[in-house]
Amino acid sequence: MKKLPIVHGPNLNLLGEREPEIYGSMTLEELNAAISVFAKLRNLETIFFQSNHEGGLIDCLHEHRRKVAGVVINPGAFTHYSYALRDAISSIQLPVVEVHLSDIHQREAFRKISVIKEVCLAQITGLGKDSYLQAIEWLVGHWLTAEFKKYLATKPSIDEAYRTCVKLLKRDFPKYDWVGIYLVDGNDLVLHNFIGAPSPHTRIPIGQGICGAAVAEAQTIIVPDVNADPRYLACSIETKSEIVVPIQAQKIFGEIDIDSHTANAFHSGDQAMLGKMACALADYLTDMI
Ligand code: DQA
Repeated sequence: MKKLPIVHGPNLNLLGEREPEIYGSMTLEELNAAISVFAKLRNLETIFFQSNHEGGLIDCLHEHRRKVAGVVINPGAFTHYSYALRDAISSIQLPVVEVHLSDIHQREAFRKISVIKEVCLAQITGLGKDSYLQAIEWLVGHWLTAEFKKYLATKPSIDEAYRTCVKLLKRDFPKYDWVGIYLVDGNDLVLHNFIGAPSPHTRIPIGQGICGAAVAEAQTIIVPDVNADPRYLACSIETKSEIVVPIQAQKIFGEIDIDSHTANAFHSGDQAMLGKMACALADYLTDMI
């Protein structure tokens, strides 16, 4: 199991009693327990650390730098002024995700500034416990993209590349209930391969449904609630949300289509990771064809 440090900064030991109207009523122990369950389902073993001291956080990053593949950190108020912490993050050359329970952009002016943001993979704020969970998904997506790029460098067949893309996404994201790739065929999209319940939509005219719209508009579409979107071509009553990402370089080859049984399942991390996966695939196809 990969080890993943979750690093909490000053005053977070007081969660539960500290300004609950801002930070919620969960204690640090309860928060860590929820993070640990989420991580375990993704084959990650969490290592929790909390310190009220700048040096303690820096020492923790140094200590883990050669033993782990990424870090989630909530640096508390150090976020806003600790250049020493920023230097530590850029020194360790690991993907680090910055998280905040509260929305730092909607609070006092001094909190809007993060001196570490630029050296982090992503900044996630304002979602309470979910900020940490999304941070874990950002890291999983980062590792997956690297693995896929390495795999493409072995020059698999195009057919194999499409299948592996679907397999890897399904393997690492439990919330991706249906993952498939559609390819452009004239004025239609044709289902190439998928994992999940069989879909009646094996051929979709470009422009129709959410799948057809993403290719017609040449852009990623996220639908948080499919039942509220008149474009949605129903295939399963269990599907609640969907993301469709075009596979495009000079031209559009097709798209990655993902359904989830969870409403509002897709966030900026999914969009960023799937964009990189689709881009890697499109560059590969451009080289091969
Ligand atoms: C915090 C936001 C910081 O501004 C604050 O100093 C904290 C907690 C958060 O999780 O919302 O200590 O990082």
